[in-house]
Amino acid sequence: MVPAGAHVRWPVLGPDERQAVLGVLERGILSGQLAPEVRGLEREFASFAGARYCLATNSGTSALHLALLGAGVRAGDEVIVPALTFVATAMAVLHQGAVPVFVDVEPRTFGMDPERVEAAIGPRTRAVVPVHLHGVPCDLQPIADIAARRGLLLIEDSAQAIGARYRGRFAGTVGLAGCYSLQSSKSMACGEGGLLVTDDEAVFRRAHAARMFGEDSRPEDEASYDLTHPLDGNRAYDSAAVGWNYRTSELAAALARTQLRRLPHWNENALANAELLSRRLRDLPGVTPPEVPADVVPSFHKYRVQLDATKLGVDAPPRTVRDAMVKALRAEGCEVVLWQTRPVPGQTLFQRLDAESAGRPGRVSYALDQFPVTQSIVDRSLCLFSQTYPIAPQPRALVEAYAEAFTRVWKRLPELLSRPRAG
Ligand SMILES: Cc1ncc(COP(=O)(O)O)c(C=O)c1O
Repeated sequence: MVPAGAHVRWPVLGPDERQAVLGVLERGILSGQLAPEVRGLEREFASFAGARYCLATNSGTSALHLALLGAGVRAGDEVIVPALTFVATAMAVLHQGAVPVFVDVEPRTFGMDPERVEAAIGPRTRAVVPVHLHGVPCDLQPIADIAARRGLLLIEDSAQAIGARYRGRFAGTVGLAGCYSLQSSKSMACGEGGLLVTDDEAVFRRAHAARMFGEDSRPEDEASYDLTHPLDGNRAYDSAAVGWNYRTSELAAALARTQLRRLPHWNENALANAELLSRRLRDLPGVTPPEVPADVVPSFHKYRVQLDATKLGVDAPPRTVRDAMVKALRAEGCEVVLWQTRPVPGQTLFQRLDAESAGRPGRVSYALDQFPVTQSIVDRSLCLFSQTYPIAPQPRALVEAYAEAFTRVWKRLPELLSRPRAG
């Protein structure tokens, strides 16, 4: 039903991107934390998001790590993260020597469940990192209230939600710091890259130094930056603390600046496509399109549909239903992905850490029975569209075709599942 070749491939790269890259090559400056594209990106994004400070990094993960470090998370601290996210949210906590404590999510926005947050707080809890999954801001205020009441640092993982809004505010600017990913599948794709925003000068300065080997490099040094000697600034070569090399490159920053200019357009198109699709799928029995709370404007990095086949009278395990839908939708020409197939604490790393810490006093458990909602979401849902062909750039007619294909397949699901397996 979905015509081959009708999809728009992501990222969309056109003459503006070509021009931006050529501009860097002609200038001949490829890197530097004070280099013009990097500083241009930081200024433009800070202004776009309404934040005081912005730091460009080489990935969303490094931006998260710098945010935790800058906010004051230390080795041994516990940091609350959701069980349904990309591993980087928890990995950044480990990079800081801290301990991720996973909590279950709520099924509406797939964001961390505030009640679970409260219950997970212990004497070593230092920070909480809600994730705006798939571009739909999570219910942030209750989490911010808990953080304020219990003295926790609030850091937003907005990797998938660039340009989304929560109660009128740019997602990622509500907490002490917010982080974004500029990896190729994201809404501002530059290959690999990340951004950190904060209004807090101390957080910014600590993150700034840690981005470059812990050197006492100050943003003010920009005044003496010399385009004719970009590699010979007034660097003291004196590391005051442990740091990393989390700088990004001029080519990536130039691409990201170009993508930033088109971000509102893609986000609006993603929203219109998602609204159309949800209108068409909402009335199918047992189908739950993504819910959009009244106080958010999502950016729809992904479009996840939850399935309950019992409403069709089908008595089959949720994963069997999901897998049959994926297969049939792909046969119709739809792009479909599952993305995460288990709660993040179910990944080998965390199960190994869980086994290694068995019997230790005060250990944090990664037992999977703590995450029934996350488990149910990953078992019962699929994402329409994919990383290569996401919902944002697709034409309306294609989205209509997806709605037709989905409706047809869902209505015939009982028949599909009752067929004897061929071969
Ligand atoms: C929710 C979430 N957090 C963090 C990241 C990490 O970003 P990056 O891949 O740029 O390191 C991603 C990206 O994949 C993500 O989806």
